[in-house]
Amino acid sequence: MCGIIGYCGSKPGVPIVIEALQCLEYRGYDSAGIASLCDGRLLIKKDAGKVGEVIEKHDLISLPGSIVMGHTRWATHGAVTQLNAHPHSDCRNRIAVVHNGIIENSAQLREELAGAGHVFRSETDTEVIAHLLEDEAGNGRSLEQAVLSIAPRLEGSYAFLAASLDDPGKIVGTRRDNPLIVGVDAPDYYISSDALAFSRYTNRVMNLEDNDVVVLAAGAIEFLDKQGNRLSRQVRQLDQVWSESSKGNYQHFMLKEIMEEAQVFDQAADQDGRLFTEIALDILRARQVIITACGTSRYAALVGRYLFSKVGKKFCDVVMASEFGYFADSVDKNTVVVTVSQSGETADVVDGVKAARAADARVISIINRPNSILADLSHHVIHLNCGPEVAVPATKSFLSQLAIFYLLSFSMVNDFDGATARLSALNTAIAGVLDSNKSELITLSHELKDRNDFYYIARGINFAIASEGALKLKEVSYIHAEGMPAGELKHGTLALVEQGTPVVVICPADYTFAETLSNAIEAKSRGAFIIGVSDRESNVYDSWISIPEVDELLYPMIAVVPLHLLAYYLAISRGYDPDRPRNLAKSVTVK
Ligand code: M6R
Repeated sequence: MCGIIGYCGSKPGVPIVIEALQCLEYRGYDSAGIASLCDGRLLIKKDAGKVGEVIEKHDLISLPGSIVMGHTRWATHGAVTQLNAHPHSDCRNRIAVVHNGIIENSAQLREELAGAGHVFRSETDTEVIAHLLEDEAGNGRSLEQAVLSIAPRLEGSYAFLAASLDDPGKIVGTRRDNPLIVGVDAPDYYISSDALAFSRYTNRVMNLEDNDVVVLAAGAIEFLDKQGNRLSRQVRQLDQVWSESSKGNYQHFMLKEIMEEAQVFDQAADQDGRLFTEIALDILRARQVIITACGTSRYAALVGRYLFSKVGKKFCDVVMASEFGYFADSVDKNTVVVTVSQSGETADVVDGVKAARAADARVISIINRPNSILADLSHHVIHLNCGPEVAVPATKSFLSQLAIFYLLSFSMVNDFDGATARLSALNTAIAGVLDSNKSELITLSHELKDRNDFYYIARGINFAIASEGALKLKEVSYIHAEGMPAGELKHGTLALVEQGTPVVVICPADYTFAETLSNAIEAKSRGAFIIGVSDRESNVYDSWISIPEVDELLYPMIAVVPLHLLAYYLAISRGYDPDRPRNLAKSVTVK
């Protein structure tokens, strides 16, 4: 959460930083700001609001300078106000700082600094960094020396950049448990939470490891370890696909990414079969297997649990990553922990993995973004290969996660190749679902846009799809929704169903059909408006979202597609921006 960007080089820096902030907006969009060092002045402009609004209101584009830092915020400490927006500065306005993460001991540091005469202007944890640097940076010390000396005093997780009028011509960055990556195109250097921010200019990157300090100047770059010794870090080439982040002809990234669901399986299945066999054997041999993830990724894990059990005859548990630590006592070297995370940087997951590593467990991560923190912490990494997912709601990455679990479970029975072929055949089916249901879903979204509650029900392997449909609806349309196993409805939630309450029923024409349908009838008898997502028509449905007949284990991958589209159209009908839902961010890097 929060995106940071720095540029040091030969070009005017502000347009580059503004463009980067627009790319980074998925990380937080409460406030934005820019600091530029120019002709002996430190220029800071910032405000609450989305990046575009702040750019326009403060005419950011007119700022001069070739050493520029920018920030887009997801508020943690302090309300969404202009004063709390980044960059933050010291008492004399000579140092500027942008920060992603949380300084856990900021209250204590603030008290000490205020006691020593520092004047704070914001309620943020970040501002302590600027004041600490102010104390350390004087007396002929360089900015990097100041950063090195304050870093051990900061508890928590961070990636921050600093620039100072007392040591001009450079940006200094460091990180701990939060991402920071350098883009190299000498004499121009970029540094950001995400390489997407500068991918238009360069695909050559250098990773920072925890506690590295990097000094960027026009035409020069230097890495230091925490003692201040010079380090050598390699330049790597990023995969081109990570440059593609435009909306194309679509109105929103969410819609574009849902449409891409019809192509994800070939990319997801483009894997090393031997690695899958090795991982499958690790899973089969383990005393216990725990899958941990958050949000949509956790729903993929719940489908994975059914697949492991049905295909590999291996029971495993799924633990919400934010709760994982509370089970850590039973994790040991005979445990395999599988993490699922599109971003690879979700703080709750990272924390769980650290606990698992400390207990000597084997860690396998299923990740979309390359170069992520989780990748560094894992024994094996499986990539989703679905390209950048920019909209905050996860859509195509979910389909890819389901595909990976399908491949892993069939690797347990030595049928990786067969699974790959079956997945590949789904692409056309999904394209058909997207095409044939579009107008029905748009009509439904207009009809149902003023309902207050939706319920989603399903049985067995599709139960998690009901939960995913409900989560997506809440996230983008702000309508309350709940997903649950169909048999569970009558144990309490049915009391909430009244005349016209939409109940979405995922109803495959298999051995679960009759029981699921009878749960739908129970709701309908209480006035529910039944939306059947099914390969078999029924007069129980008030609206039928027709999907093709597929094997039971592939059904979740087809059934979720219209649910994503329904959530999208409901958000549009209600006038909301589904790419940037209120209060949320795509990468959740705080606990
Ligand atoms: O990057 P991750 O997969 O770890 O993110 C986990 C959740 O924050 C994420 O899936 C969230 O629930 C989505 N915005 C839902 O659409």
